[in-house]
Amino acid sequence: MMVADRLEKIEESATLKISDLAAKLKREGKDIISLSVGEPDFPTPQHIIQAAIKAMEDGHTHYTPSKGIPELREAISDKLRVENGIEYSPEEILVTPGAKHAIFEAVMATVNRGDEVILLEPSWVTYEACVMMAEAQVVWCPLNENFEAPDLQEYVSDKTKMIIVNSPNNPLGVVFRKEFLKEIRDIAVDHDLLVISDEIYEKIIYDGVHYSLASFDGMWERVITVNGFSKSYAMTGWRLGYAAAPRNIIDSMLKVQQHSVSCATSFVQYAGIAALKGDQQFLAGMVEEFEKRRDLLVNGLKEMGISYAPPDGAFYLFADVSSFGTGVEVSEQLLQEAYVAVTPGEAFGKSWRGWVRISYATSRENLMEALKRIKDVLI
Ligand SMILES: Cc1ncc(COP(=O)(O)O)c(C=O)c1O
Repeated sequence: MMVADRLEKIEESATLKISDLAAKLKREGKDIISLSVGEPDFPTPQHIIQAAIKAMEDGHTHYTPSKGIPELREAISDKLRVENGIEYSPEEILVTPGAKHAIFEAVMATVNRGDEVILLEPSWVTYEACVMMAEAQVVWCPLNENFEAPDLQEYVSDKTKMIIVNSPNNPLGVVFRKEFLKEIRDIAVDHDLLVISDEIYEKIIYDGVHYSLASFDGMWERVITVNGFSKSYAMTGWRLGYAAAPRNIIDSMLKVQQHSVSCATSFVQYAGIAALKGDQQFLAGMVEEFEKRRDLLVNGLKEMGISYAPPDGAFYLFADVSSFGTGVEVSEQLLQEAYVAVTPGEAFGKSWRGWVRISYATSRENLMEALKRIKDVLI
């Protein structure tokens, strides 16, 4: 009775639910291997930590401008121009406490009650919740067996306001092809739609190439590019992300930020500058290790005759376990009998009932042991 209607239908984050349950079992002494985590298992690089300590010692421990400190917005502007081929001035950039909050602010700032927002299914769980908090409607467009959406057009109505795109994709691990992104571009331009392009996994790619949607013709004015530091620099707990978009959108998002969190944490923003401008060697090493783990997992699944979406990026593998049951059934069985935690595909959309998401943000030893246990239980 006390709870607002808009929150009633929003579920607890299904991905966090599984990791919490796995953590609980672990605390109870069970030998759980968690393949459900959404964060790199690498320590944040030392030079980034040192930059935060120095910022604190230098007295940067107070509120910053709500948009973010100018030096960081300049560094982000340079990064987007050099790496992504998109021109955003520092005024068109908003530094946020995590990419997640950037997405929340972007939806709050642009989507009206009753508008429709298209999500490509399967989709990361937070997009749906943000749309619901804006009292708008989610329209699910299921991806086909090639993890593309040739009939996307059919999901557009006169109420459609936005499409949310995430490549490299969580939960799929797929890097969307340029041709598919161009199809999305054509539809967005033809129907005058906004697009959130969540590019948080852009640097974790093994095969395929990352394209920023805002760099495509006709897209700059309609795309909100979202990115952050959590995945590329193993900084999930620092809470640092950003959005880049035309000034009127950024300034509306700024209102949400000013009246919710004021600004991203001061000294963390200085650490962000060190991350962007400092040595990038860490990243190459992390991606190399992720690739080895991905290969190990792929070989293990192949041996069991389990197929999967092309695992070209991020650190997830989306596997078809339909011959063993639904995603929920298989996840429960693996947790209870193999002490291996994976995330059911259903968490990311109803059409993916026979799938599970396996995160390989854990050691190769853990992965080998998990594969052995999965095989023992399923095969
Ligand atoms: C697709 C996607 N976008 C955004 C985020 C959130 O990142 P941040 O830690 O910067 O809020 C995540 C984290 O799991 C994610 O998987």
